[in-house]
Amino acid sequence: MPFLDWYLRRSLATWLFFHSLVLLSLCFQSATTFPKGCYPSQEDGYKTLRCSNAQLTEVPRDIPNDTNRLYLDFNQITYLPSDAFRNLPVLMELDLSHNSLGHLDATSLRGVTDHLHSLDLSSNKLVSVSKEVFANLKARTNLSGNPWMCDCELQEVIRLVDLDPGSSSAIVCASSVQEEHAGKPFLQVVKEVDLCNVYKRTTDVAMLVTMFGWFAMVISYLVYYVRQNQEDARRHLEYLKSLPKKSNPGS
Ligand SMILES: *[C@@H]1O[C@H](CO)[C@@H](O)[C@H](O)[C@H]1NC(C)=O
Ligand SMILES: *[C@@H]1O[C@H](CO)[C@@H](O)[C@H](O)[C@H]1NC(C)=O
Repeated sequence: MPFLDWYLRRSLATWLFFHSLVLLSLCFQSATTFPKGCYPSQEDGYKTLRCSNAQLTEVPRDIPNDTNRLYLDFNQITYLPSDAFRNLPVLMELDLSHNSLGHLDATSLRGVTDHLHSLDLSSNKLVSVSKEVFANLKARTNLSGNPWMCDCELQEVIRLVDLDPGSSSAIVCASSVQEEHAGKPFLQVVKEVDLCNVYKRTTDVAMLVTMFGWFAMVISYLVYYVRQNQEDARRHLEYLKSLPKKSNPGS
């Protein structure tokens, strides 16, 4: 059956041709859709984008909007621009660990805070962070391995955030409002002192000292003034006393 044979060969060739076309277009698509250094995969049914260790200095722009898990760990990202993750409405896990983040803006995590399940900010260069950054954040958060400045603000942040239980002992004070806390784990420090009250107490004391200083100045001026006046009054009195003596001989 030469005709059938010819037909089969032809359809096989056609099939191979289309198959390679599809493969080629898939390659082309992945090359254009995914940021450089990032590899997409499907893990446990979640769309995952791994950009770990890709020498990134900033968050890639063209992250697919259906990404569930995003790994940006082990890069050199120094800051998160406003709304960096805003167009990722189904993002659940965000790993920013082992980067060089020194600062977070109140708007850095805007748009993802209410649906994120897990946020890893460990091993960065965070010294302090305002609590607005974490407003509405429900994610388990890893804040360990940063050079934290332990003060009232950090205490409020940590009260607000759902800390990753395994990582909380590694939140260490690199510096503190009270010098003796440097090098100690944050949770141990706040067991001993309320960092927000320490701050309040020091401002109270400063205010008291200033007020006392002013009070002392006013009192000493008053004393000086009264004494000066007394002196003047005495002199005036003496003068008055001396007057009649001078005029008496005349009368
Ligand atoms: C991603 O963007 C496309 C095109 O703008 C949109 O149709 C789609 O619904 C978005 N996907 C998600 C998960 O938001
Ligand atoms: C938190 O981050 C540190 C440093 O990156 C890591 O060693 C630790 O495993 C993380 N903890 C959890 C529970 O993921």
